[in-house]
Amino acid sequence: MNPNFSALVSSIKTEIDDGLSDFIGTYQCASPTLKEAMQYSLLNGGKRMRPVLATIVGNLLGADRNDIVNVAMAIECVHAYSLIHDDLPAMDDDDLRRGQPTNHIKYGDATAILAGDALQTLAFELLTTRPMTRYGDSKRIELIKILASSSGMGGMCAGQSIDLEATGRNISIEQLGQLHALKTGALLKASIMMAAHLAPDTGEQDFEHLDIYADNIGLAFQVQDDILDVIGDSQTLGKPQGSDQSLEKSTYVSHLGVESATEFLHSLQNKALSALEALPYNTAQLKAFTDYLVNRNH
Ligand code: IPE
Ligand code: IPE
Ligand code: MG
Ligand code: MG
Ligand code: MG
Repeated sequence: MNPNFSALVSSIKTEIDDGLSDFIGTYQCASPTLKEAMQYSLLNGGKRMRPVLATIVGNLLGADRNDIVNVAMAIECVHAYSLIHDDLPAMDDDDLRRGQPTNHIKYGDATAILAGDALQTLAFELLTTRPMTRYGDSKRIELIKILASSSGMGGMCAGQSIDLEATGRNISIEQLGQLHALKTGALLKASIMMAAHLAPDTGEQDFEHLDIYADNIGLAFQVQDDILDVIGDSQTLGKPQGSDQSLEKSTYVSHLGVESATEFLHSLQNKALSALEALPYNTAQLKAFTDYLVNRNH
């Protein structure tokens, strides 16, 4: 990672971690157990890729910094919830996440389910209650709409459902693309689109190019996740290596093998970079983000 980009990533991480820690820490919750379980999965690291993406896009297009942080925090709550539920015995049944026991291992299945539920709704409390600029305020409904549809039956949950049905079964490469675009791509796209909506001057054409960029990096993100499941190690990944294979998941590696999956990853990277060329801005940071996403080792 180039030093400028690396400094940007760590400053965004700190800002998001502090913001989330304050918001949840000062929240009066009648159940200390629920609050602790939520904090456990929200504040235990994570690359904060979605906040990084939202910040870069928001900065590029001229959105207010505080408005971007609000959106990024909300997205990260949905992401944390999705990971808690993804690890449950009824889903991927994994015991390690971000180098620590998964939420249900630490707190039990029932509390883990509730912590996920409450993190999901916390996202919408963040979006509706945190102070925004007048412009951001005028966009709240649009932001809620994007986050809701990309998380639920229009996005992540639909993808997770197809993922479960595709487990132990052969599906076509087209179905696999749809599965990945929904379960992972949708929330990454939401990070881009919500940030773009926060900027007063984002034009139709900007949205179109960003949409193509989002489709390609959204898929690339999950292709690299599939590859890392095979070639990574549990310690670096912070989650169990080989989980997909032992569950007989449908992944790009199970379909194509590591070598062709890697070629496909690079073709997505190139398409994403071409979409950036069409944007009339300095997209150096988005290029750096794309390279980071493709080359990450965890
Ligand atoms: C993991 O997401 C789940 C997928 C969508 C593939 P990340 O790789 O962004 O996980 P963290 O937040 O950094 O732990
Ligand atoms: C899950 O995909 C994506 C989510 C919506 C959480 P995976 O099941 O491959 O994610 P990991 O590998 O457990 O992080
Ligand atoms: Mg899964
Ligand atoms: Mg999983
Ligand atoms: Mg995975």
